[in-house]
Amino acid sequence: MNARFWINLVLAIGVIYMSGCKKKDAATKEPELKIGAKTEAKEKIAMSIKDETFKRTIDGKQVELYTLTNSNDLRVRITNYGAILVSLEVPDRKGNLADITLGFDTLDGYLKGHPYFGATVGRYANRIGKARFVLEGTEYKLAANNNENHLHGGIKGFDKVVWKAEEIVTEDGPALKMTYVSEDGEEGYPGNLACSVIYTLTEDNELKISYEAQTDKTTVLNLTNHSYFNLAGQGTCDILGHMLVLNADKYTVVDEGLIPTGENRSVKDSPMDFTKAESIGSRIGQVEGGYDHNYVLNSGGGSLALAASVYEPSSGRTMEVYTTEPGIQLYTGNFLDGSITGKNGKVYNKHFGFCLETQHFPDSPNKPDFPPVVLRPGQKYVTETVYRFYTK
Ligand code: GLA
Repeated sequence: MNARFWINLVLAIGVIYMSGCKKKDAATKEPELKIGAKTEAKEKIAMSIKDETFKRTIDGKQVELYTLTNSNDLRVRITNYGAILVSLEVPDRKGNLADITLGFDTLDGYLKGHPYFGATVGRYANRIGKARFVLEGTEYKLAANNNENHLHGGIKGFDKVVWKAEEIVTEDGPALKMTYVSEDGEEGYPGNLACSVIYTLTEDNELKISYEAQTDKTTVLNLTNHSYFNLAGQGTCDILGHMLVLNADKYTVVDEGLIPTGENRSVKDSPMDFTKAESIGSRIGQVEGGYDHNYVLNSGGGSLALAASVYEPSSGRTMEVYTTEPGIQLYTGNFLDGSITGKNGKVYNKHFGFCLETQHFPDSPNKPDFPPVVLRPGQKYVTETVYRFYTK
């Protein structure tokens, strides 16, 4: 056997070791604890996220970190800066909690700029081609912040503004309601827009996100949450071994700028097909750049329906996504490259998180055949997405 054989063998072992979550490096293992073991251990998971590191006045408004818990010890942390989901701790099949979203321990982490970790994205989540659209005969020009296109609400989108927060108790469980009034012309969009986003943690281990908005001028709107999930525990490994099902027979075909061409193509016999459980990584090499696509949900939107289900074999953690939206963007953290160090000192390498952004389709303001995104005065925008957790 020659030297090349041994080099290839070592490389292959390295690749197997790096991918998936089966073999964890003890030194980088996320602290975990048993549910019910009240305690220091419990403090350990969120130890690096401290309330005081989020206290700050920005744009004359107070920023804070809020915590929601349920009686199963699930814990959600949210900041009113960008209405960002900072952490989400859920149990594995043995009852060990781990934080399963990517993000930062401090507000500074978010202020330095980041790829929308946990953020509420608006006014228009995803891309608008050539950063313009025409509404009732008027052309509106938006910031071109993604080459010639507009992405995720522009330069200072909803992910970078301070929302007013109020802790409330609902029938479903503890909740955080955040409101923000976006002024007429903000980031180029028409109309004063009053928005609210409510995060509720239920006793059924669901994180419910409800959005509402009203405008005083005809406008377009598409709100989502941009959390990056890793059901094995944030920062521990890539997400290529997660098993995914998407309730979608079609996806919107895009051009090189990731703007839909207008064609909705069947996923059948292609690496885009997740109608049956498949690992995210099994065919990702056949998809240029990795998954960053909008799927056309079979439900058609309008009422709450199961859109996606993700299962992580080593922990047993399973997440279901229900939404009233007609589309869902599967993004597999293709642009993560190890340059960001997140919570607990974890380095976020390529594919270390996946996003399932429930939404209307990209570039809908310029695509009359797509489900409409126009909001008129007197109408109420109401959408909801639910992430439900259990183990297998
Ligand atoms: C979205 C987009 C991606 C990328 C990420 C943020 O999911 O579709 O192309 O911009 O946000 O990095």
